[in-house]
Amino acid sequence: MSRDSSPKYSFQSTKTVVVPAAGMGTRFLPATKTVPKELLPVVDTPGIELIAEEAASVGAERLAVIVAPSKQEIMRHFEEFPEIVEMLSARGKDEQVAKVQRAQKLIHPVAVEQEKPLGLGHAVGLAEDVLDDDEDFFAVMLPDDIVLPATVMEDMARVRQAVGGSVLCAFEVSREETCNYGVFDVEDTNIDGVKKVVGMVEKPELEEAPSNLVATGRYLLDRKIFDALRRIEPGKGGELQLTDAIELLIKEGEPVHVVVHKGKRHDLGNPGGFIPANVDIGLRHPQYGRALYASLKRIISDYESELK
Ligand code: G1P
Repeated sequence: MSRDSSPKYSFQSTKTVVVPAAGMGTRFLPATKTVPKELLPVVDTPGIELIAEEAASVGAERLAVIVAPSKQEIMRHFEEFPEIVEMLSARGKDEQVAKVQRAQKLIHPVAVEQEKPLGLGHAVGLAEDVLDDDEDFFAVMLPDDIVLPATVMEDMARVRQAVGGSVLCAFEVSREETCNYGVFDVEDTNIDGVKKVVGMVEKPELEEAPSNLVATGRYLLDRKIFDALRRIEPGKGGELQLTDAIELLIKEGEPVHVVVHKGKRHDLGNPGGFIPANVDIGLRHPQYGRALYASLKRIISDYESELK
């Protein structure tokens, strides 16, 4: 992506990342009877820590985690665990000590309680009080989505610096898949890989999808979104949709752009996406990668012979 040589907006780095994590995780039952979905490990690291890592990597200081009353354990992941640290240290297990301590060192977590699951828009709206008065924008990262390489948020920040307003991450899917996502109606810009959003619709019917570019869980939102969120009505599924508030901003002339992501994306929100994410990331893991590759080849070959 080319950088704008004459930015109209002064650079401000992302301070707060909002992480909606109040969903019930029904697609992961029975595991999610007692374990919040965001604590399920991708290889050995819970999704919430992957998000904290990504947030810290773009310089964010604060992680506003929107949690349901029954999912407070998510926040415990950021606590200190001195007894485990002491026990591991006494045994000289420094690598494991570092793993225990990593989450708490990454970022300052703040819990925001969402009492009822009233939708993604409602969840994001609850974070308003967490922001400082001088934060003109903030990020939203959906922990179900892994977007690789994680540098996409940096690209989005550069675009915001150039064009202001809100900048989202878009991913190309087949037209048949658009009904699962927020779908963008876009126009070209003179910045490579960046499109201007002229409309957005949540989970449209196939024939109503304005394009096959969809929202993938990474948003840099202008603070004006909070006001828009107060003015929307329940939308798709009877929930307050973030997509509808973004559409309202667009209608009112606020700039909204997308960076079209060319890398990978995994959906941790259901076992069908969670398993490939573990395989993909596991294959690249320094400790487990090689053995996993060998096991997978064997498993696939056994499976193929069963099919014959
Ligand atoms: C949410 C958003 C949708 C977006 C998707 C990305 O939907 O409402 O616009 O495209 O995340 O993962 P959900 O998957 O929570 O139903």
